[in-house]
Amino acid sequence: MKGENSNQIGLIGLGVMGKSLARNFESRGYNVSVYNLPFPGEEDLVNNFVNEFSDSNFYGAKDLEDFVNSLDSPKKIVLMITAGDPVDQMISKLEPLLAENDIIIDAGNSHFSDSERRSKDLDSKGLKFVGLGVSGGEEGALKGPSLMPGCTSSTYQELEVYFKSIAAVEREGNACVTHIGSGGSGHFVKMVHNGLEYADMQMIAEVYGYFKKSAGYSNEEIASIFEDWNKGELGGYLLEITIDILRHKENGQATLDEILDVAGNKGTGKWVVHAALDLGVPIPTISESVFARYLSTMIETRTGASSSYNQSSGVNKLSSEGINTIKDALYASKLINYIQGFDLIKAASEQYNWDINFSNLANIWKEGCIIRSEVLYVLSEINITNNLILTNEIKQLLLTRISAFNQTLAVFGSSGVHAPAMSASFNYFNGIILEKTTANMIQAQRDYFGAHTYEKVGKPRSEFFHTNWTK
Ligand code: 6PG
Repeated sequence: MKGENSNQIGLIGLGVMGKSLARNFESRGYNVSVYNLPFPGEEDLVNNFVNEFSDSNFYGAKDLEDFVNSLDSPKKIVLMITAGDPVDQMISKLEPLLAENDIIIDAGNSHFSDSERRSKDLDSKGLKFVGLGVSGGEEGALKGPSLMPGCTSSTYQELEVYFKSIAAVEREGNACVTHIGSGGSGHFVKMVHNGLEYADMQMIAEVYGYFKKSAGYSNEEIASIFEDWNKGELGGYLLEITIDILRHKENGQATLDEILDVAGNKGTGKWVVHAALDLGVPIPTISESVFARYLSTMIETRTGASSSYNQSSGVNKLSSEGINTIKDALYASKLINYIQGFDLIKAASEQYNWDINFSNLANIWKEGCIIRSEVLYVLSEINITNNLILTNEIKQLLLTRISAFNQTLAVFGSSGVHAPAMSASFNYFNGIILEKTTANMIQAQRDYFGAHTYEKVGKPRSEFFHTNWTK
């Protein structure tokens, strides 16, 4: 659709995600202008895309100026390009072509601190910026992603109708999008989503590892167990794809068994652990999941150590009661992962003054995104004002599973199962429910060797004491 100053949405970046997002907007009735910088090898991307969907309302711009001119004002430009420098470079190219109140929406996996900076910078120039977290992969982008926009309330109001039209829809009919908060909050929440994703994946992999190695189940047997679990409270996208993966065969061979056991990553897991360290919030389930990927890359050390240290603990099939115990432990672990993730978002919201609205957060992850699952439906019913562990709803869910959790971790320990994420959930839980930790000993040690001082039981928190320990 060619129309000077008439197209409602412009999208730059025709990679897999960009194409899907552009098609999603177009399928909701918008005229969409598309553009891609003519990088070597990508010169024909725009024409090819427009030709491929010649019956649709796409306008393929010949250059950036043409692209900007084809848009209705205030112009709404979605960037779906590589995060980092390319986003800054594109913004600098766009700036001279834009007028006051035009909106740049960065839909890539940008670091939240970049979005925070860009938002302040563009605001000072009279332009509007949205750091938009998008989850759901290629299919989600095409048919309905979960959207996490960070921007001012008024910019969100302006864009809500567009966002709602392309987002996934949950069971009660609500679109999976809400105004997250200001500045970099959308990308922060997307980053935590990815951390939760790493941990959810890792915990499923740990249970798969236990079933396969210690219980001696075949891929098909594990798929059947997971299929059963997927019908209930553990149901969700990641378990669903795991079932397909377990059953997939190529030339009669299980594809999964042919895949090298070295996990990759694109860095968002690392970002979330960094952020948690900076904010002083423990997220051990996520951090152990990131480290489990790193450990998997130590293939030569693992192989060498395996031949020296590994003792087979034999294979023990499980009763159906035993299988249910593992299921309950996985559910508890998963809840504890979310407790940590939400706590991190809360701390960030306070630290960066984002004013994140928690009542809708779980809602937008119910569908469309990679971590969509029944657990998000449960969490969305909880009024989150404090750490989730203190809510009655979570209390009910965890209290009935503590014994299964204890039993499972004991079995994992005695069978030599590598379960860092589930163990981290277990340890987080055992720490967060302690009225008294052993940090008094740490404080005494710090004071002993470094005169770092300590606070005293029953004294005001602002009073610090020092002991001369050798006298
Ligand atoms: C999504 C995904 C998506 C992707 C990440 C993580 O929400 O659609 O989170 O963003 O899976 O890039 O990838 P890595 O596992 O490679 O870090």
